Amino acid sequence: MAAPIRVLFVCLGNICRSPTAEGVFRHLVDAAGASDRFEIDSAGTGAWHAGEPPDRRMQQAARRRGYTLEGKARAVTARDYAHFDHILAMDGDNLHTLLERCPPEHRSKVRLFRDHDPEHPGASVPDPYYGGADGFLEVVDIVERTSRSLMQALLQEGER
Ligand code: 4NP
Repeated sequence: MAAPIRVLFVCLGNICRSPTAEGVFRHLVDAAGASDRFEIDSAGTGAWHAGEPPDRRMQQAARRRGYTLEGKARAVTARDYAHFDHILAMDGDNLHTLLERCPPEHRSKVRLFRDHDPEHPGASVPDPYYGGADGFLEVVDIVERTSRSLMQALLQEGER
């Protein structure tokens, strides 16, 4: 069997945006019957929230759209750069931090998640942490459409 496509979603704290991307992407992949094609994880550029579950407000917003968020926060490690095929940053700051720490041979794996957003390619997923409930729902909506498009692109790439 072919090696899985290894995808890592990265934000700052790994308690809001990247666990949402991980959960939504996994849900879409399962629904497409493609779970054996992917290895999916998320991490943060910072370690302040390491060991914590996804933020309660983020879990609530995800649940309203039918997604369950799981896992515990962790920071990106040196091993991640070698292990994952696609390292997808939630915003421009995350992208910058990831590239600063990335060994040169793995730089091409590091991109903005929203490069795959059909509506606003190249935008950042806004950080919802210090805002209201609407911000968390907006994250889910952005992540949902972007994940759909990302999954299609990666599956097509895998067929070539
Ligand atoms: P995330 O959101 O990067 O989407 O997980 C944040 C989580 C925590 C903080 C900022 C953003 N913080 O400042 O602690």
